[in-house]
Amino acid sequence: MSAKNLAGRKALVTGGARGIGAAIAEALANAGASVMIGDILADLGKDTAGRLAKTGAKTGFVELNVTDDAQWEKAVAATVATLGGYDILINNAGIEITSLVVDLKAEDLRRMCDVNIVGTGLGMKHAFRAMRPGGSAGAGGAIVNIASVAATIAFPAIAGYSGTKSAVDRMTRIAAVEAGKLGYGVRVNCLYPGLVPTDMGMQLANDIVAAGLAPDVSAAVGSVVEQTPLGRLGEVGDMADAAVFLCSNEARFITGAGLPVDGGMGT
Ligand SMILES: NC(=O)c1ccc[n+]([C@@H]2O[C@H](COP(=O)([O-])OP(=O)(O)OC[C@H]3O[C@@H](n4cnc5c(N)ncnc54)[C@H](O)[C@@H]3O)[C@@H](O)[C@H]2O)c1
Repeated sequence: MSAKNLAGRKALVTGGARGIGAAIAEALANAGASVMIGDILADLGKDTAGRLAKTGAKTGFVELNVTDDAQWEKAVAATVATLGGYDILINNAGIEITSLVVDLKAEDLRRMCDVNIVGTGLGMKHAFRAMRPGGSAGAGGAIVNIASVAATIAFPAIAGYSGTKSAVDRMTRIAAVEAGKLGYGVRVNCLYPGLVPTDMGMQLANDIVAAGLAPDVSAAVGSVVEQTPLGRLGEVGDMADAAVFLCSNEARFITGAGLPVDGGMGT
């Protein structure tokens, strides 16, 4: 998507330092939005924001651990102060800890719940408070939560992760209904990305081998490609274009939706 269809919009992208989040931040900026990156990786996050600034976009970085309510409050205030408003939230920060069910660790399950579920929930809470009429930004907006194809299929060794992404999917729909019925002027949707070879995606491919489910990484990746009608892995740009669309006026009557961006893998 290259049209400046997000000109004047102000976005916060969590987990925007690298991977899918960084690509979404770049695509939002290319579409004309100002973009704040929130991440726990301060050096990388500042570098990513700096790179976007060189393209002429208004950008900033704020240190944000999405599991922390108080840090969210500060991040939203910093976004409004730096960008002059806040009307797009990309709830992208997430973690995946691979395990067969037989080996699940309580600590790992809790960490994934904390980042993927608590982080997404707090992000929506603070976005609603700021974006709804009378809020610190007050102009409505759009939220895109990054769920996963894992919320729509039964892929082995990611039971805990898939559960958290199913929760993101369900929370998206309830938040959309509340925002609509209570007149917040905020649309809420989610994406289900297929496997993308980011740090997280390649770690998963390695973990699948370690779990004994594939002989090597190329076989692990090959089996995903085989299950994908469009015959390839996802690219970060595929996710970024879909996120830009859901934030844009072209998606003005879309809320409470989950959009698969998975080459048909979850179909
Ligand atoms: N890569 C894939 O195959 C894939 C597929 C489906 C969904 N997803 C989802 O897409 C999103 C991005 O994944 P990615 O592949 O770019 O992963 P990644 O690991 O490459 O990047 C994740 C980013 O989130 C940040 N992050 C992690 N915990 C955080 C926290 N507590 N607070 C703030 N930031 C935090 C990291 O520092 C990093 O910058 C995740 O929600 C992931 O679950 C990824």
